[in-house]
Amino acid sequence: MCGIFGCIIREGEAVKLITDGLKRLEYRGYDSTGVATIQNGQMSIRKDKGRIEEVVSNLRILDMEGQIGLGHTRWATHGAPSMENAHPHTDSNESIALIHNGVIENYLELKDELLEKGHIFKSRTDTEVIPHLIEEEMKNDIGLQEAMLRVLRRLRGSYALVVLSTHEPDRIFVARNESPLVLGISDNGTFCASDVPALLPYTNQVTYLRNGEMAVMEIDGYQILKISDETRVGRETQEITWSPEMAEKQGYKHYMLKEIYEQPNSLKDGLRLQERYLDLLTQFLDRGKEVFLVAAGTSFHSCLAGSYILSKIARITSIPVVSSEFMERYGSTVGIDSVVLTVSQSGETYDTLKAIDQARMRAATVLGITNTVGSTLTRVSRAYLIQQSGPEIGVAATKTFTSQVLVLAQMALRLAKSRGKLSQDELDELDEKLQKVPDWVEESLEKLADPIEKLAESIMDEELFVFLGRGISSATALEARLKVLEITYVPSLAYPAGESKHGPISIIEDGVTCVFVCPQGETRPHIVGSIMEMKSRGARIISICEEGDSDIIRLSDQVIEMPKGIPEVLSPIVYIAPMQLLAYKLAVMKGLDPDMPRNLAKSVTVP
Ligand code: AGP
Repeated sequence: MCGIFGCIIREGEAVKLITDGLKRLEYRGYDSTGVATIQNGQMSIRKDKGRIEEVVSNLRILDMEGQIGLGHTRWATHGAPSMENAHPHTDSNESIALIHNGVIENYLELKDELLEKGHIFKSRTDTEVIPHLIEEEMKNDIGLQEAMLRVLRRLRGSYALVVLSTHEPDRIFVARNESPLVLGISDNGTFCASDVPALLPYTNQVTYLRNGEMAVMEIDGYQILKISDETRVGRETQEITWSPEMAEKQGYKHYMLKEIYEQPNSLKDGLRLQERYLDLLTQFLDRGKEVFLVAAGTSFHSCLAGSYILSKIARITSIPVVSSEFMERYGSTVGIDSVVLTVSQSGETYDTLKAIDQARMRAATVLGITNTVGSTLTRVSRAYLIQQSGPEIGVAATKTFTSQVLVLAQMALRLAKSRGKLSQDELDELDEKLQKVPDWVEESLEKLADPIEKLAESIMDEELFVFLGRGISSATALEARLKVLEITYVPSLAYPAGESKHGPISIIEDGVTCVFVCPQGETRPHIVGSIMEMKSRGARIISICEEGDSDIIRLSDQVIEMPKGIPEVLSPIVYIAPMQLLAYKLAVMKGLDPDMPRNLAKSVTVP
């Protein structure tokens, strides 16, 4: 998604903070860069297609003067990456500069109206209609704030907007609907950004703008008001405990590697969640006649694993659903007796928020698990829980996956207890195993770093991977596949191993690499059969199994041996860690950037 940064400061040049702020948002994915500043009432704008470093250097952006400005990194939704389509966009006489993250759904009708009035457009973006609409409104002898409010009431769609204008050279105007926007304040001035990491070096006092709100930023602070009726909104700032370093790489080559190795700590934090939040969510879950687990991407894989855990530990049937399919599949059947537990690292995923809208409209109870304080998901959920993974900057989700499954496992244990589904001994044993999860992950990552490096070297030229698992390990296989697919771009399949004979096995031939996830447990005998099936057709067998599992080791060409004693029902949390590392190593060996895979964004806030 687009990166947004704006500031009004007492000391220093705005452009330095803007470019640094945009760099901390690079993980959001982008194709163009642009900056606008005002100095002595004069606007200057420099922008182009390309990465921040090259545009900053080619256009000498750091020469731009002024202590007020904004910057943008664009992730194209309308119009190809080009200088003309890069933000900021302006009105006819470049007195208004505007940057935007989101999608204006009614921009074509607005554009037609402006074209009839003689406006000329330089870009093919939806965004460019907005400064021209503001220009039109200001012809009614009203100020910029009023003009902006009128325009905002006409827009349909999602936006995080930042407006700079020579009409009001000491103010920045921001507005939000669905696309995230956070405000910050310090002794040196005020700031706005699409995400917290961009603000952290300047302040940890932040306020999240909410849907349908606008704010006017000045050097001493900001005032929030509702777009609908201009009522003023009083809101406490929140202190973000993440230090800038936490959001930086801390010596690792990539954020993804740092975040893989952060998992022992993030899982320990996950085991220290506030009891009352876990209990509250569990109580709501317990009351549902039907339970949906709704999420996208990796978060969906957490839900898939969670559905096995809820079934096996708490004897609860839950329906994992991909967010973008929820409306079609259950939009007309979800109802007052339904509980919809949504999982989203960013808390801003468009598809997940749309599923929530539908569920709420049908009077279902919506619960949320997210990693992002103040995100939209926290406000639209009846009850929510912050998974405490810490900032995850790498586009590929790693530690947030293991945290999410851990939360779902803790909820399942509470439900099993409240429903009397397990004996106290069984509960105690599972809880003891849960407490060991962080250590198992740490032990695996330490012991397997070299074997994984060697394994990656041996398969780096493969052109197809097939990941297979049975039962809960099918969720682990799907997540491992997604990691490899999204950062190495190697075509990869993943499905429940039992499905092979119903079609997919036709793709197996000499040398195709099959990766089997086979912890000790109920499904292990079946997975042996699946391995034999593939082996007999010439597949190369890589297995991740328990240390010393001689049958699996004998059948496999290469093995990843995991610590003993990990219960199958908790295995996704631990078995995924070496697979994350394998995907990372493969990407780096291929000369790819695992933090910013092509075509992807950290948070997909558009339909
Ligand atoms: C996973 O590595 C990807 N980053 C992507 O699939 C992601 O999990 C998905 O977009 C959902 O994001 P969310 O958890 O923020 O809702």
